[in-house]
Amino acid sequence: MNGGTVPLIGLGTWPMDDAECERAVAEALQLGYRLVDTAFAYGNEVGVGRGVAASGVAREDVFITTKFDRESHSVAGAALAFEDAARKLGVEYIDLMLIHWPNPDQDRYVEAWEGLIVLREQGKVRHIGTSNFLPKYLDRIISATGAVPELNQLQVNPRHLQRGPRAYNAELGIVTQSWSPLGQGTGLVELPVFADLADKYGCTPAQVILAWHVNVGLCAIPKSSNPERLVQNLRAQDIDLDPADIATIEALDGTEPDVKNPDTFMH
Ligand SMILES: NC(=O)c1ccc[n+]([C@@H]2O[C@H](COP(=O)([O-])OP(=O)(O)OC[C@H]3O[C@@H](n4cnc5c(N)ncnc54)[C@H](OP(=O)(O)O)[C@@H]3O)[C@@H](O)[C@H]2O)c1
Repeated sequence: MNGGTVPLIGLGTWPMDDAECERAVAEALQLGYRLVDTAFAYGNEVGVGRGVAASGVAREDVFITTKFDRESHSVAGAALAFEDAARKLGVEYIDLMLIHWPNPDQDRYVEAWEGLIVLREQGKVRHIGTSNFLPKYLDRIISATGAVPELNQLQVNPRHLQRGPRAYNAELGIVTQSWSPLGQGTGLVELPVFADLADKYGCTPAQVILAWHVNVGLCAIPKSSNPERLVQNLRAQDIDLDPADIATIEALDGTEPDVKNPDTFMH
């Protein structure tokens, strides 16, 4: 990331409402989390801001990510999206702002990217990036502006490795951050392979999965509002997996039951 780093494990906040977010964010920050992921679409930026304020952790020690929707895909739209998000979050600046989806049907993501570049130049947003951008969308915004996203958030988990898009991000120096890293309740955590590995490493199945993300160079934003799981998920970054176990985990690739396609997802 330009002049900074991004925490390996952060807190996802979808689908928490404001009240749940306020409690979970404050708790997570007190437990040691330093990154919180939200979005205009989640409707919980107010709760995230209250949680940050209630945590007692200094604003400059918290990395807040938010994202904007298709309605804001223009230079003026991105500026308004920033003002709206900053007001709801109760902050002067946002650490990382992302285009939530490319929404190729309306074909205005280049303008959205130009809007983010302006916001970074103005210092209102520290880092700028994309979410759900396949290589062809990255190529387009980079060739139009010369500016490379700092981070690209993608749906990645052991059943959906996204090798091609991840390799492309890496080639361009873009950080890949995994969304739904635990498979969003689709049965990933319950697969027997993770129970076996959890026994071997003396941890939980979810920790094996999050350790996999970190061991292969990803950062991740698991969502939990359960205090014990919040701790587990953060500590997973300290677990070193054997290469053979990483290979076993990656043999699951292609078996994801619910993959969202950026080409067709019309959020
Ligand atoms: N950029 C995008 O387009 C996009 C799309 C989707 C999501 N996201 C972001 O990514 C974040 C994470 O994705 P997600 O919420 O979809 O899915 P996820 O983090 O893969 O999974 C969340 C589910 O796993 C459970 N869980 C959490 N920790 C666990 C543990 N240690 N053991 C067992 N179960 C555990 C949670 O339940 P409990 O809460 O009960 O613990 C919840 O049901 C979102 O919150 C959002 O911030 C971004």
